[in-house]
Amino acid sequence: MYKNGCLPLSCLLLLLLMHQVSLQDVSAFTGGAVILNCSTTDLSLVSVYWRYRDSKTVYNIINGKEQLGEQEAAFGGRVKSFPEEWKKGNFSIILNNVTESDSGLYTCFIPILSHNTKLQLTVTTGVYALFLHIIDIVCSLKGQYIR
Ligand SMILES: *[C@@H]1O[C@H](CO)[C@@H](O)[C@H](O)[C@H]1NC(C)=O
Ligand SMILES: *[C@@H]1O[C@H](CO)[C@@H](O)[C@H](O)[C@H]1NC(C)=O
Ligand SMILES: *[C@@H]1O[C@H](CO)[C@@H](O)[C@H](O)[C@H]1NC(C)=O
Repeated sequence: MYKNGCLPLSCLLLLLLMHQVSLQDVSAFTGGAVILNCSTTDLSLVSVYWRYRDSKTVYNIINGKEQLGEQEAAFGGRVKSFPEEWKKGNFSIILNNVTESDSGLYTCFIPILSHNTKLQLTVTTGVYALFLHIIDIVCSLKGQYIR
């Protein structure tokens, strides 16, 4: 029936695999921090644009300086880069206090090199976060009981 020997399920798996090689997968736990890597060997560049879902501004380096004017409010105060690393071509950022809504595609774009790094962030509730959540529920139930 399938002349090329590619059954629907294996086609799907192949597509998934192909999708994954073009992206770097990164995972983090809620409340934790995650480093999003972006590095290049060319040191002559000066502007780097980090974007979330191809539109929202996460972090900008313009002419060798941090520029947070356009930063999306959701990332405010949570993103840092490593200026001492920039001269080595390392434009990685760290995203602190990660929440599940931070999951998604991050792009590091360096226009002068037409260099694009894409990372897919998956945030999951860590065992510790889950534990705190259960404690919360137990305490609130206990509170109701006492009242
Ligand atoms: C980021 O790059 C460093 C150095 O190459 C590597 O050790 C680290 O595992 C990378 N982190 C991720 C999340 O890919
Ligand atoms: C870039 O710098 C950060 C912070 O020092 C480090 O964690 C990361 O591994 C570096 N990435 C590479 C590719 O060297
Ligand atoms: C982390 O985010 C939560 C929810 O947005 C907030 O309540 C908490 O204060 C933040 N913690 C830190 C250390 O920024």
